[in-house]
Amino acid sequence: MSTSEQMAVGIDGLAVYIPRLYIDLTGEWAEVRGAAQGVDSAELVAKLTKGIGVSKMAIPDAHEDSATMAAMAAKRLIDGLEMDPAEIGYLAVATETTVDQSKSIAAYVLGMLQRHYGVDLSHVGCPQFQFACIGGTYALEAATALVRGGDLGDRCAIVIATDVARYPMGGPAECTQGAGAVALRVAAHPRLLRLDRCVHATVSVDERDFFRPNWSAEAVVDGQYSVDVYLGCLDRVLRAVPASAAAGVGDAAKGLMADYYLFHTPFPRMAEYAAARLYRRLESLKTNPDPAAWGDDPAAEREADRATAKQDAFRGWFARHCNPALLHGREVGNIYSGALYLSLGSLVESLAVSNETRAGKRVLFFSYGSGASAKLFAGTFTTDDAQTTGVACLSNDLSPETDRPGGRRHSLGLAEYERLHGVHSKTGEPMGPVVQGSVREPASEFALVRYGTESSSVRVDLGYRYYSFVSGAGNDDLVRAASAEIPAVTRPLRTGSGI
Ligand code: CAA
Repeated sequence: MSTSEQMAVGIDGLAVYIPRLYIDLTGEWAEVRGAAQGVDSAELVAKLTKGIGVSKMAIPDAHEDSATMAAMAAKRLIDGLEMDPAEIGYLAVATETTVDQSKSIAAYVLGMLQRHYGVDLSHVGCPQFQFACIGGTYALEAATALVRGGDLGDRCAIVIATDVARYPMGGPAECTQGAGAVALRVAAHPRLLRLDRCVHATVSVDERDFFRPNWSAEAVVDGQYSVDVYLGCLDRVLRAVPASAAAGVGDAAKGLMADYYLFHTPFPRMAEYAAARLYRRLESLKTNPDPAAWGDDPAAEREADRATAKQDAFRGWFARHCNPALLHGREVGNIYSGALYLSLGSLVESLAVSNETRAGKRVLFFSYGSGASAKLFAGTFTTDDAQTTGVACLSNDLSPETDRPGGRRHSLGLAEYERLHGVHSKTGEPMGPVVQGSVREPASEFALVRYGTESSSVRVDLGYRYYSFVSGAGNDDLVRAASAEIPAVTRPLRTGSGI
């Protein structure tokens, strides 16, 4: 066996960036939407908090998008792990809400990091991965293979999953929006999580459950059908594990046993639906190793899941093995490609808060992307390293600024939220040069500072997005960034403090 085959490779560190703005779904939003639906707001709040499992949704400001959030997550990772950015050998960014129909979003992120840290990263491969919410996992798979194969030498890979989940206002999916990015450092001898050498199972099918046509900034989703397709794909990858065990590749029960189960989480109740399905399959495998015995009628299986979800035995199992990973999803909403890895951050933080040792604990991941593809893979926590724990923790960031000094989140009124929803929905026409309408002035963050407007014999940049790190309110950086090429300058509406 070669050295590279024996080498442990996995996630060395994880950092999350969530926009500061959020809408509280239990306040004005519920009153107005409840009235429009003819539903009492208290009942709508009960549906949201218990039936869907969310209470807040993160909303990007006007100067934020998938590229700025990705760069922010990368910066948090680099600074938190005290990394030299020149150590990066590969930068893969997964998104289904990209900022350009041609250029890799990773190239924008690379540029932001180069300028901010003053390093040359021109040796770095920087592809974009896209396959709905599973894109981050495909990127992680590629990065892991490069590190394991020794292709990056002593360098590491950075994988970022970044998205803005946006649906039509007033529709049933609106309450499952969100925004954020998760950055992973993938390296040999990881301090956080060693990934198993083989992905346990992959399934891909050609489905219409959820998609976003080229002309739309909002996703089109067949809600209940999308839940069925998700659970159908979960069943297919679960069936594949006993099948490969039967072929002598591994042991089914062993392959599916874990201390913690993480699911793609578009909303926390979805993880509970998936957990109930997994629990039923694990129970069935105890007496019959053949998955052919499992039912496959979607409606009947969902009814069986619902019945299981009410049982005390399931509730205890879920609380122990799944719930610790759902801490942040309720406060952030869906972040599409990063949702599974936000769950990993939640798990790390939950274990830290409860003073539980994580080293040696096994985690089974169910990654899902609409359209559709699913993967089941596993890893084992390697250490309880305090630095990696600190970088992954997010709770302080998610405290509203009104709750305590140092709180970072800013609650939006409904009108402000609806205005920003409109700002981000404009993809069809070239924008003016100035990025207008930020609720908070960019401060200590990467920001979209202007759009290109030229189409002359000297320069063509119509619609191009210019990004820069903005140090603080009224700071020269913003002026310098915007005036480097043309005089247009972002002028947000209000001022705010550092990040
Ligand atoms: N108190 C407690 N619970 C209540 C309640 C109340 N007052 N009122 C309703 N509920 C419960 C319902 O009983 C239901 O729970 P069960 O399934 O256990 O019965 C739950 O709340 C949700 O109610 P509905 O199913 O009626 O909700 P809905 O049809 O209005 O919308 C949704 C739900 C389909 C998920 C919709 O929000 C949506 O389309 N979201 C976007 C699509 C999505 O996230 N799909 C997930 C799979 S696809 C994927 O994972 C990829 C991705 O990231 C998008």
